[in-house]
This record gives sequence, structure tokens and C-alpha cells, in this order.
Amino acid sequence: MQIDVFFTPGEVKPSDTAGRLVAVIDVLRASTSVAVALANGAKTVIPLEGADEVMTRAKQFERSEVRMAGEQKMVPIAGFDLGNSPLEFTAAAVEGKTVLLTTTNGTRALLGVQGARDIVVASYVNFSAVLTMMKVAARTNTDIAIVCAGHEGIFSLEDSSCAGRYVRAIPRRAGSVVMNDAASASVVIDRKYGDNLAKIFQDSSHGQALEAAGFVGDLAAAAALDSHSVVPIYQDRQITKLGPERER
Ligand code: MLT
Repeated sequence: MQIDVFFTPGEVKPSDTAGRLVAVIDVLRASTSVAVALANGAKTVIPLEGADEVMTRAKQFERSEVRMAGEQKMVPIAGFDLGNSPLEFTAAAVEGKTVLLTTTNGTRALLGVQGARDIVVASYVNFSAVLTMMKVAARTNTDIAIVCAGHEGIFSLEDSSCAGRYVRAIPRRAGSVVMNDAASASVVIDRKYGDNLAKIFQDSSHGQALEAAGFVGDLAAAAALDSHSVVPIYQDRQITKLGPERER
């Protein structure tokens, strides 16, 4: 089986995701926020390209059914209900709601792979839950593509490190797995940091920027390994929680 990591969404061609299990990672902060929102009872999260798309789509819902969420340059968008801080996606804020989300990197990474069949949203907070899906893929010899959202089109340390943690944890028989170079590099990065997730964020430019902007609590939230056992599945342009009704 093949396990490929893509450090930025721009590297991914349709043939890289066709027939594979695809995991999209934006640790800081979109994939973390999506996992938290669904764990706290959001009905669905719909990733959208920009603020205008969110406002247009919101008109299709009763106002009370929907939450407009997202960031521009890390800060909440004016007039929206929520920003992109995982701490904002509480049950009180999102339970039973449709969350329309736009972010600089994470939602674009998702939109870029939306033709693929099986897409999951991965992060540290739902690491083991998503790993279970990857183990099923490995058992059935299904190739895996891990797509890092990166930061404004370039490599990001935290997404690559999280990708490496997945690559290392996927069970394999000797000689049975072929990896691309980015997958091998992501393993090296993850080995360097191990469980010291706070150090990854200290060393990452996006982590530093979030801290400087006052979002230090988000870094702690994003580092809360396995705090949510939720598998967000992106299908038919919306992300919902894998559960009994969507078991596959
Ligand atoms: C993104 O998706 O671009 C990020 O989550 C940006 C952020 O809000 O930190």
C-alpha cells in the first residue's frame, strides 16, 4: 500500500486522492475547530471559500439554525458568530447547528480535495479516532493520502508533524508500505518532537503568530491529544461526524 504526505494542498493532483482514504490536517486551527465543533454536537460543518460565500449560504437557513464562523488574518470576521478558535465551538454555541466555516488555509485545503470519496479531517485532538480509519484502510490495502493545509501555500511545521505521527502509527507489515519522501520527512519531524506538542507550536511560525495575537489558549486546545474521539467525514460538501448512522 502507498502512504503519501503532501506538505501543501497545491501539490495534490486528483490522481493522488482518487480511491484513497484522504486525511486533511490543519492543526492550527481549522481541523482542530472542526473536530471540537462536531464533538460538541454541531449538526454539520460546511467549509466555504470566503466570507461572501458564508453570508450567501446563511440566507438558505433559518438564522437560529446556522452559525457563521471563520477568520481572516487569524481574527474573527466582522458580523460572524464565531471566529476560528476551537475554544469558541462550545456546545452552547454549536449544538444542533449548521456551522458555515471559512478560514485562510484549512477550508481551502478541504475544498481542494472534495472530489475524493473518503475524506476525514484530522488533528491532534482527534488523533486516535482518525487513526482507527487509517488502520481499517491499511487492513484493506487502501492507499492513504495525508494533505497538510500548510500556511498560505507553504510548509507548516505543526501539520507536517501531525502527519508524521499518523504515518508512524499506521500498522504495516515489513516491506508492505511505500511512502513518498514527504511521508518519510514527516516521520523525522514527529520523532524529533514526540509528545512535546507545545514545543512544535513554539517552533512554528503560525504558532508564534497565534500566541502574539493573543490566542495562546488555542495552542493548548490544539495540543490536547485525543481529547475528542470524533471522526469528521467530508462528503457531499459538508463535514459530519461518523456515527452509527454513518458507520461504513
Ligand atoms: C486556517 O485555516 O487558515 C487556519 O486555521 C488559520 C487560523 O485561524 O489560525
